[in-house]
Amino acid sequence: MKKVLITRILPDIGPRILRESGQIDLSQWPHEMPPPRDALLEQVQGMDGIVSLLTERMDGELMDAAGPQLKCISTVAVGTDNIDVNAAKQRGIMVTNTPGVLTETSADMAFALLMAAARRLPEGERYAKSGQWKTWGMTILLGQDIYGATLGIAGMGRIGAAVARRAKGFGMRILYTARNRHEDIEHETGATHVSKDELLAHSDFISVHTPLTLETRGYINAAAFEKMKPTAVLINTARGPVVDTNALYEAMKAKRIFAAALDVTDPEPLPADHPLYTLDNVLIVPHLASASVATRNRMAEIAASNMVAAMRGDEPPNRVG
Ligand code: GLV
Repeated sequence: MKKVLITRILPDIGPRILRESGQIDLSQWPHEMPPPRDALLEQVQGMDGIVSLLTERMDGELMDAAGPQLKCISTVAVGTDNIDVNAAKQRGIMVTNTPGVLTETSADMAFALLMAAARRLPEGERYAKSGQWKTWGMTILLGQDIYGATLGIAGMGRIGAAVARRAKGFGMRILYTARNRHEDIEHETGATHVSKDELLAHSDFISVHTPLTLETRGYINAAAFEKMKPTAVLINTARGPVVDTNALYEAMKAKRIFAAALDVTDPEPLPADHPLYTLDNVLIVPHLASASVATRNRMAEIAASNMVAAMRGDEPPNRVG
Protein backbone atom coordinates (compact mmCIF):
# COMPACT_ATOMS: atom_id res chain seq x y z
CA MET A 1 0.00 0.00 0.00
CA LYS A 2 1.16 3.52 -0.79
CA LYS A 3 0.61 6.23 1.75
CA VAL A 4 -1.12 9.37 0.47
CA LEU A 5 -2.07 12.52 2.37
CA ILE A 6 -4.79 14.94 1.26
CA THR A 7 -3.89 18.26 2.87
CA ARG A 8 -7.40 19.79 2.88
CA ILE A 9 -11.07 18.90 2.56
CA LEU A 10 -11.87 17.86 -1.04
CA PRO A 11 -15.13 17.04 -2.83
CA ASP A 12 -15.93 13.38 -1.97
CA ILE A 13 -15.05 12.09 -5.39
CA GLY A 14 -11.34 12.77 -4.73
CA PRO A 15 -10.93 10.58 -1.63
CA ARG A 16 -13.27 7.99 -3.16
CA ILE A 17 -11.09 7.51 -6.25
CA LEU A 18 -7.98 7.22 -4.10
CA ARG A 19 -9.59 4.64 -1.77
CA GLU A 20 -11.19 2.66 -4.57
CA SER A 21 -7.80 2.24 -6.25
CA GLY A 22 -7.24 -0.42 -3.59
CA GLN A 23 -3.58 0.54 -3.44
CA ILE A 24 -3.65 3.59 -1.24
CA ASP A 25 -3.60 4.02 2.50
CA LEU A 26 -5.25 7.42 2.74
CA SER A 27 -5.01 10.12 5.38
CA GLN A 28 -6.63 13.54 5.23
CA TRP A 29 -6.45 16.80 7.15
CA PRO A 30 -10.05 17.07 8.37
CA HIS A 31 -10.41 20.77 9.19
CA GLU A 32 -11.86 23.66 7.17
CA MET A 33 -8.73 25.78 7.65
CA PRO A 34 -5.42 24.65 6.10
CA PRO A 35 -2.94 22.82 8.33
CA PRO A 36 -0.45 25.12 10.04
CA ARG A 37 3.04 24.61 8.64
CA ASP A 38 4.29 22.60 11.66
CA ALA A 39 1.35 20.24 11.47
CA LEU A 40 1.82 19.86 7.73
CA LEU A 41 5.54 19.02 8.11
CA GLU A 42 4.54 16.34 10.60
CA GLN A 43 1.63 15.00 8.53
CA VAL A 44 3.71 14.52 5.37
CA GLN A 45 6.26 12.26 7.07
CA GLY A 46 6.43 8.86 5.39
CA MET A 47 4.01 9.80 2.56
CA ASP A 48 4.47 8.43 -0.96
CA GLY A 49 2.06 11.01 -2.34
CA ILE A 50 0.59 14.37 -1.33
CA VAL A 51 -2.62 15.80 -2.80
CA SER A 52 -2.41 19.49 -1.97
CA LEU A 53 -4.29 22.69 -2.61
CA LEU A 54 -2.81 26.04 -3.61
CA THR A 55 -2.88 27.09 0.06
CA GLU A 56 0.03 24.79 0.96
CA ARG A 57 3.63 25.71 0.19
CA MET A 58 5.33 22.64 -1.24
CA ASP A 59 9.04 23.43 -0.95
CA GLY A 60 12.27 21.46 -0.52
CA GLU A 61 11.95 21.54 3.26
CA LEU A 62 8.53 19.90 3.09
CA MET A 63 9.72 17.34 0.53
CA ASP A 64 12.62 16.42 2.83
CA ALA A 65 10.27 16.24 5.81
CA ALA A 66 8.17 13.74 3.84
CA GLY A 67 11.21 11.57 3.11
CA PRO A 68 12.93 10.04 0.08
CA GLN A 69 9.98 7.74 -0.69
CA LEU A 70 7.83 10.77 -1.75
CA LYS A 71 7.02 10.22 -5.44
CA CYS A 72 4.24 12.63 -6.37
CA ILE A 73 2.68 15.95 -5.42
CA SER A 74 -0.71 16.38 -7.05
CA THR A 75 -2.14 19.88 -6.76
CA VAL A 76 -5.87 20.51 -7.14
CA ALA A 77 -5.34 23.61 -9.27
CA VAL A 78 -3.90 24.64 -12.60
CA GLY A 79 -1.40 27.10 -11.07
CA THR A 80 1.70 25.52 -9.56
CA ASP A 81 3.40 28.58 -8.09
CA ASN A 82 2.98 27.16 -4.55
CA ILE A 83 5.21 24.24 -5.55
CA ASP A 84 8.98 24.40 -5.96
CA VAL A 85 8.97 22.34 -9.14
CA ASN A 86 12.80 22.43 -9.38
CA ALA A 87 13.19 21.13 -5.83
CA ALA A 88 10.75 18.34 -6.75
CA LYS A 89 12.71 17.54 -9.90
CA GLN A 90 15.99 17.35 -8.00
CA ARG A 91 14.39 14.81 -5.67
CA GLY A 92 12.73 12.78 -8.41
CA ILE A 93 9.22 13.82 -7.31
CA MET A 94 6.51 14.17 -9.96
CA VAL A 95 4.25 17.23 -9.90
CA THR A 96 0.78 17.16 -11.45
CA ASN A 97 -2.03 19.73 -11.83
CA THR A 98 -5.62 19.96 -13.12
CA PRO A 99 -5.58 21.96 -16.37
CA GLY A 100 -8.41 22.20 -18.87
CA VAL A 101 -11.40 21.44 -16.64
CA LEU A 102 -11.42 24.87 -15.04
CA THR A 103 -10.75 26.91 -18.17
CA GLU A 104 -14.33 27.88 -19.04
CA THR A 105 -15.42 28.28 -15.41
CA SER A 106 -12.49 30.62 -14.73
CA ALA A 107 -13.11 32.58 -17.93
CA ASP A 108 -16.74 33.01 -16.84
CA MET A 109 -15.51 34.54 -13.60
CA ALA A 110 -13.11 36.91 -15.37
CA PHE A 111 -15.97 38.06 -17.55
CA ALA A 112 -18.36 38.33 -14.62
CA LEU A 113 -15.85 40.56 -12.84
CA LEU A 114 -15.29 42.61 -15.99
CA MET A 115 -19.00 43.25 -16.35
CA ALA A 116 -19.64 43.84 -12.66
CA ALA A 117 -16.83 46.38 -12.37
CA ALA A 118 -17.69 48.11 -15.66
CA ARG A 119 -21.34 48.52 -14.71
CA ARG A 120 -20.68 49.08 -10.97
CA LEU A 121 -22.90 46.21 -9.80
CA PRO A 122 -21.58 46.00 -6.22
CA GLU A 123 -22.05 49.76 -5.78
CA GLY A 124 -25.52 49.57 -7.31
CA GLU A 125 -26.50 46.78 -4.97
CA ARG A 126 -25.22 48.66 -1.93
CA TYR A 127 -27.06 51.76 -3.15
CA ALA A 128 -30.38 49.94 -3.51
CA LYS A 129 -30.14 47.92 -0.31
CA SER A 130 -29.07 50.86 1.84
CA GLY A 131 -32.14 52.94 0.97
CA GLN A 132 -30.35 55.54 -1.20
CA TRP A 133 -32.50 54.67 -4.26
CA LYS A 134 -34.99 57.53 -4.34
CA THR A 135 -35.31 58.15 -8.06
CA TRP A 136 -34.05 57.18 -11.51
CA GLY A 137 -31.40 59.69 -12.52
CA MET A 138 -29.43 60.35 -15.71
CA THR A 139 -26.12 60.58 -13.88
CA ILE A 140 -26.49 57.99 -11.15
CA LEU A 141 -23.83 55.25 -11.00
CA LEU A 142 -22.64 55.56 -14.58
CA GLY A 143 -20.24 52.89 -15.76
CA GLN A 144 -18.23 51.98 -18.85
CA ASP A 145 -19.53 50.32 -22.01
CA ILE A 146 -18.41 46.78 -22.74
CA TYR A 147 -19.78 46.48 -26.27
CA GLY A 148 -17.28 47.94 -28.73
CA ALA A 149 -14.59 48.44 -26.06
CA THR A 150 -11.02 47.15 -26.30
CA LEU A 151 -10.02 44.26 -24.07
CA GLY A 152 -6.33 43.70 -23.35
CA ILE A 153 -5.54 40.13 -22.36
CA ALA A 154 -2.17 39.72 -20.63
CA GLY A 155 -1.23 36.09 -21.19
CA MET A 156 -2.90 34.04 -23.92
CA GLY A 157 -3.05 30.58 -22.39
CA ARG A 158 -6.16 28.43 -22.18
CA ILE A 159 -8.06 30.82 -19.91
CA GLY A 160 -6.96 33.94 -21.80
CA ALA A 161 -8.21 32.35 -25.03
CA ALA A 162 -11.55 31.44 -23.42
CA VAL A 163 -11.92 35.07 -22.28
CA ALA A 164 -11.11 36.24 -25.83
CA ARG A 165 -13.95 34.06 -27.20
CA ARG A 166 -16.39 35.62 -24.75
CA ALA A 167 -15.15 39.10 -25.64
CA LYS A 168 -15.71 38.42 -29.33
CA GLY A 169 -19.36 37.65 -28.55
CA PHE A 170 -19.61 41.02 -26.84
CA GLY A 171 -18.31 42.86 -29.88
CA MET A 172 -15.03 43.80 -28.25
CA ARG A 173 -11.72 44.51 -29.95
CA ILE A 174 -9.05 42.25 -28.47
CA LEU A 175 -5.37 42.96 -27.89
CA TYR A 176 -3.05 40.51 -26.17
CA THR A 177 0.45 40.05 -24.90
CA ALA A 178 2.16 36.68 -24.86
CA ARG A 179 5.66 35.40 -25.42
CA ASN A 180 4.55 33.90 -28.74
CA ARG A 181 1.85 34.77 -31.20
CA HIS A 182 -1.24 32.55 -31.16
CA GLU A 183 -2.41 32.68 -34.74
CA ASP A 184 -5.25 30.22 -34.13
CA ILE A 185 -6.77 32.51 -31.48
CA GLU A 186 -6.12 35.57 -33.64
CA HIS A 187 -8.00 33.90 -36.45
CA GLU A 188 -10.87 32.84 -34.22
CA THR A 189 -11.35 36.06 -32.26
CA GLY A 190 -9.65 38.80 -34.26
CA ALA A 191 -7.18 39.32 -31.40
CA THR A 192 -4.01 41.31 -32.13
CA HIS A 193 -0.62 40.55 -30.57
CA VAL A 194 0.87 43.76 -29.11
CA SER A 195 3.62 44.93 -26.75
CA LYS A 196 2.88 45.41 -23.06
CA ASP A 197 3.00 49.20 -23.49
CA GLU A 198 0.51 49.09 -26.35
CA LEU A 199 -1.79 46.84 -24.35
CA LEU A 200 -1.69 49.21 -21.38
CA ALA A 201 -2.20 52.34 -23.46
CA HIS A 202 -5.02 51.16 -25.71
CA SER A 203 -7.16 48.83 -23.57
CA ASP A 204 -10.42 49.82 -21.91
CA PHE A 205 -10.28 46.56 -19.95
CA ILE A 206 -7.12 44.70 -18.95
CA SER A 207 -7.53 41.11 -17.81
CA VAL A 208 -4.51 39.26 -16.46
CA HIS A 209 -4.08 35.56 -17.32
CA THR A 210 -0.40 34.80 -16.78
CA PRO A 211 0.95 32.21 -14.37
CA LEU A 212 2.88 33.69 -11.44
CA THR A 213 6.59 33.49 -12.24
CA LEU A 214 9.64 35.63 -11.52
CA GLU A 215 8.90 37.49 -14.77
CA THR A 216 5.23 38.17 -14.08
CA ARG A 217 5.50 39.14 -10.39
CA GLY A 218 4.58 42.83 -10.27
CA TYR A 219 3.67 42.84 -13.99
CA ILE A 220 1.06 45.50 -13.21
CA ASN A 221 3.09 47.98 -11.15
CA ALA A 222 3.03 51.76 -10.61
CA ALA A 223 4.57 52.39 -14.05
CA ALA A 224 1.90 50.21 -15.66
CA PHE A 225 -0.94 52.11 -13.99
CA GLU A 226 0.59 55.34 -15.32
CA LYS A 227 0.25 54.04 -18.87
CA MET A 228 -3.40 52.98 -18.61
CA LYS A 229 -6.40 55.00 -19.71
CA PRO A 230 -8.14 56.88 -16.87
CA THR A 231 -11.30 54.94 -17.79
CA ALA A 232 -9.58 51.54 -17.71
CA VAL A 233 -10.82 48.57 -15.70
CA LEU A 234 -8.28 46.03 -14.40
CA ILE A 235 -9.34 42.42 -13.80
CA ASN A 236 -7.10 39.93 -12.00
CA THR A 237 -8.12 36.29 -11.87
CA ALA A 238 -4.54 35.01 -12.22
CA ARG A 239 -2.47 35.33 -9.04
CA GLY A 240 -2.38 38.20 -6.56
CA PRO A 241 1.33 39.09 -6.87
CA VAL A 242 1.01 39.67 -10.64
CA VAL A 243 -0.40 43.04 -9.55
CA ASP A 244 1.63 45.15 -7.09
CA THR A 245 -0.81 45.69 -4.23
CA ASN A 246 0.62 49.02 -3.05
CA ALA A 247 0.68 50.42 -6.57
CA LEU A 248 -2.89 49.19 -7.02
CA TYR A 249 -4.06 50.83 -3.82
CA GLU A 250 -2.41 54.15 -4.71
CA ALA A 251 -3.77 54.08 -8.27
CA MET A 252 -7.30 53.25 -7.18
CA LYS A 253 -7.31 55.76 -4.32
CA ALA A 254 -6.19 58.48 -6.72
CA LYS A 255 -8.84 57.27 -9.23
CA ARG A 256 -5.98 56.84 -11.69
CA ILE A 257 -8.14 54.21 -13.47
CA PHE A 258 -11.89 53.59 -13.36
CA ALA A 259 -12.10 50.32 -11.44
CA ALA A 260 -10.36 47.11 -10.48
CA ALA A 261 -11.90 43.68 -9.94
CA LEU A 262 -9.88 41.08 -8.11
CA ASP A 263 -10.44 37.39 -7.61
CA VAL A 264 -6.90 37.04 -6.24
CA THR A 265 -4.92 39.30 -3.93
CA ASP A 266 -1.48 39.71 -2.39
CA PRO A 267 -1.49 38.81 0.44
CA GLU A 268 -4.18 36.19 0.15
CA PRO A 269 -6.53 36.15 1.93
CA LEU A 270 -6.55 39.94 2.05
CA PRO A 271 -6.89 40.82 5.77
CA ALA A 272 -10.27 42.26 6.78
CA ASP A 273 -8.74 45.62 7.73
CA HIS A 274 -6.90 46.09 4.42
CA PRO A 275 -7.46 49.60 3.00
CA LEU A 276 -8.31 48.19 -0.46
CA TYR A 277 -11.69 47.16 0.97
CA THR A 278 -12.52 50.80 1.69
CA LEU A 279 -12.47 51.80 -2.00
CA ASP A 280 -15.76 51.81 -3.91
CA ASN A 281 -14.01 51.32 -7.24
CA VAL A 282 -12.39 48.04 -6.15
CA LEU A 283 -14.41 44.83 -6.30
CA ILE A 284 -12.89 41.90 -4.41
CA VAL A 285 -14.06 38.29 -4.26
CA PRO A 286 -12.27 35.46 -2.42
CA HIS A 287 -10.47 33.48 -5.17
CA LEU A 288 -13.60 31.89 -6.66
CA ALA A 289 -12.71 31.58 -10.34
CA SER A 290 -12.98 27.78 -10.50
CA ALA A 291 -15.68 27.61 -7.81
CA SER A 292 -18.58 25.87 -9.54
CA VAL A 293 -19.89 22.56 -8.20
CA ALA A 294 -19.13 20.66 -11.40
CA THR A 295 -15.66 22.12 -11.89
CA ARG A 296 -14.53 21.58 -8.32
CA ASN A 297 -15.69 17.95 -8.58
CA ARG A 298 -13.76 17.53 -11.83
CA MET A 299 -10.65 19.08 -10.30
CA ALA A 300 -10.79 16.68 -7.34
CA GLU A 301 -11.37 13.77 -9.71
CA ILE A 302 -8.42 14.66 -11.93
CA ALA A 303 -6.06 15.34 -9.03
CA ALA A 304 -6.98 11.97 -7.52
CA SER A 305 -6.58 10.18 -10.87
CA ASN A 306 -3.16 11.77 -11.36
CA MET A 307 -2.15 10.44 -7.94
CA VAL A 308 -3.49 6.94 -8.55
CA ALA A 309 -1.51 6.76 -11.81
CA ALA A 310 1.67 7.95 -10.09
CA MET A 311 1.23 5.48 -7.23
CA ARG A 312 0.80 2.63 -9.74
CA GLY A 313 4.06 3.61 -11.38
CA ASP A 314 2.27 4.90 -14.51
CA GLU A 315 2.81 8.28 -16.14
CA PRO A 316 0.13 10.62 -14.68
CA PRO A 317 -1.92 12.39 -17.38
CA ASN A 318 -1.27 15.94 -16.16
CA ARG A 319 2.38 16.08 -15.28
CA VAL A 320 4.02 19.52 -15.08
CA GLY A 321 7.34 18.42 -13.57
C1 GLV B 1 -6.69 28.35 -9.11
O1 GLV B 1 -6.35 29.45 -8.84
C2 GLV B 1 -5.94 27.43 -9.89
O2 GLV B 1 -4.74 27.67 -10.15
O3 GLV B 1 -6.50 26.39 -10.27
